Amino acid sequence: MKFSADNWVRENIRSLQSYSSARDEFEGTARIYLDANENPFGTELNRYPDQKQVEIKVLIGEELEIEPEQIFLGNGSDEAIDLLIRASCDPGKNRVISIAPSYGMYSVCSAIQGVDIDMVLLNEDFSLSADRVISLFRNNHKLLFLCSPNNPTGNLLDEDEIIKLVRAFNGVVVVDEAYIDFSDSQGLTGLLKKYRNLVLLRTFSKAWGLAGIRCGMALGHPEIIIYLSKIKYPYNLNVLTQRKIREVLNNPIYVYEMIGLIVKERKRMAGELQKIGGVLRVYPSEANFILIKLDEADYLYAELIKRGVVIRNRSSLELCSGCLRISIGTREENEFLLKEMQNILA
Ligand SMILES: Cc1ncc(COP(=O)(O)O)c(C=O)c1O
Repeated sequence: MKFSADNWVRENIRSLQSYSSARDEFEGTARIYLDANENPFGTELNRYPDQKQVEIKVLIGEELEIEPEQIFLGNGSDEAIDLLIRASCDPGKNRVISIAPSYGMYSVCSAIQGVDIDMVLLNEDFSLSADRVISLFRNNHKLLFLCSPNNPTGNLLDEDEIIKLVRAFNGVVVVDEAYIDFSDSQGLTGLLKKYRNLVLLRTFSKAWGLAGIRCGMALGHPEIIIYLSKIKYPYNLNVLTQRKIREVLNNPIYVYEMIGLIVKERKRMAGELQKIGGVLRVYPSEANFILIKLDEADYLYAELIKRGVVIRNRSSLELCSGCLRISIGTREENEFLLKEMQNILA
C-alpha cells in the first residue's frame, strides 16, 4: 500500500489550523515592521527570527544535496523525535518500535505522549535483523526508530536490512544519523526520493561541534516535513542559532578538519584501550565514541569520577552488561583518561 502522510498523521493534526503571524501572510522586505509587537530599538536581537528558516534551509540543502522542502529544523534532533511521535501517535492507541540498546529519547518521548514502545533486541554483535523487527509489525505501529551508527554501540546498521524494513512497514522508518559524519558511509539521503516513509535525523551537535546552539534536522518527504513544521513552535530556532549556522555553512572547512582529527583519535584510542589489562573488549566504532567491556565497569566508572573524568556507564542496558561508553576527546584528554585507567586497573 502506498504511504500517505495524510493518513499517517493523527486526525487532529491533519485538520489543525496552525498559528499564523503577519509575516506568514507577507513576503519580501518591508520598510517598517509594526506587526509583531517587537521593541523597535536595535539590540541586535529585538526582532523575531525567520520562522520558516528559509536562508539556512537553502544552505543545508546545498550541503546535504537535498531540497529545502525536505528539511525540518528543530531545537536539537530531540525536537524532531518528539514531533514525529506527537504528529502520528494517538496516546493509548498507536505504538512505536525501537531497537535496543539504542538512544534513550525514543522511549522518553513516547512515554511523554502516552504511547507504548516495543523494543527489538539487536543481535549479540549489535547487528540488525530485519525479519525479527518485521515479525512485530502491527497496524497500529506508526514509527520505527533505528539509529546508525547506533548509540551506544557505535556500529552502522546494514543498509539492506534497513531498506527491507522501509519496504515492509506501513508507518515511517526513522533512521537517526546523528553520528554519520564520523563513519565511512554517506548515510541514506540518496534514498529519500525513493521512499516516502523514510525520515533521517541529523544534528549540528556532533560532527559540526555546535551542541550549544541546539539545532537538529529531520529529512524526509515534503508531505511529512510540512506536518512537522505545522506543529512546531513558530520561532523554534532563535536568531543566534540561525546566524551561527549561516556562518559555519559558509565556511565548513574547519568542520571537516575536526572530523578528521576525531576519527584519527578514535582509531588510535581503539588500539590503546585494547592494550589496557582488564579491558575485555573494544567494540568497533563508526562514531565519535567507543564502547568497551570490562569485568569491573562500575568500579572503573566510579574511580574515574573521583579523578575528575566522566564517561558514560551503559552497564544497565540490555546486551551491554559491563560496558562503558567513552567519547573521543582531544589528544590530551584521551591521554589523561588512558593514564588514569591504567592506574586504576593496574
Ligand atoms: C543518536 C542520537 N540522536 C540524537 C541525539 C540528540 O541530538 P541533538 O543534540 O540534536 O538533540 C543524540 C545525542 O546524544 C544521539 O546520541
